[in-house]
Amino acid sequence: MDDVALARAIHVAAVVLWIGGVGFVTTVLLPAVRASETPETRVALFEALEGRFSWQARVTTLLTGASGLYLVEALDAWERFGDPTQWWMHAMVLVWLLFTVALFVAEPLVLRRWYARATKEDPDRALRLIARLHVVALTLSLVTVLGAVAGSHGFSP
Ligand code: HEM
Repeated sequence: MDDVALARAIHVAAVVLWIGGVGFVTTVLLPAVRASETPETRVALFEALEGRFSWQARVTTLLTGASGLYLVEALDAWERFGDPTQWWMHAMVLVWLLFTVALFVAEPLVLRRWYARATKEDPDRALRLIARLHVVALTLSLVTVLGAVAGSHGFSP
C-alpha cells in the first residue's frame, strides 16, 4: 500500500498548491487589483500576476488528475461512482473537469480573445465578472475538499 500513500500525498500536495492559489487570487489578488488606481493599471496588474499562476494551475491540475486516477484504480474504487453517498468522488471529477476545460480549452480558444475585447470596452465590468467566476470556482473547490477529506476518512451523513 506504499504506492497508495505516496499517490495520496502527491494528490493532496497538488490540491493544496492549486486550490490554495485559487483562494489567494480570489480573496486577495482580485480585490486588491480592483481597488488599485486606474482601470488600465488594474488590467495590467491582473495580467502580470494571474498569468504566472495559470502555469502553476495547469501543472497542478494535471498532477491532481493523474494521482487521482491512480488512486481510483489502486483502491479499486470505481463502484463509488454509483453510490450517491460518495458524492464527493463526483465532485472531485467535476471540479477537475471544470478547471481542465477552462485552462486547456476555453482559455486558449475563447477566453483570451474575450478578455482582450472586454477589458478594452469596460475593464471594471470584465474584472467584476472574473471575480464572480473565481468565487464560484473557489466555493465548489472548498466544498469538494471538505467532502473528500471527511468522506475518505469515514464520515457518512
Ligand atoms: C480526476 C479527478 C480526481 C480523481 C479521480 C480523484 C480521486 C481521489 C481518490 C480516489 C481519493 C482517495 C479516496 C480514499 O482514500 O478513499 C482522493 C482523495 C482526495 N482528493 Fe481527489 N480526485 C480528483 C480530483 C480532486 C480535486 C479536484 C480535489 C480538490 C478540489 C481533490 C481533493 C481530494 C482530497 C482533499 C482528498 C482526501 C485526501 C485524504 O484526506 O486522504 N481531488 N481523490
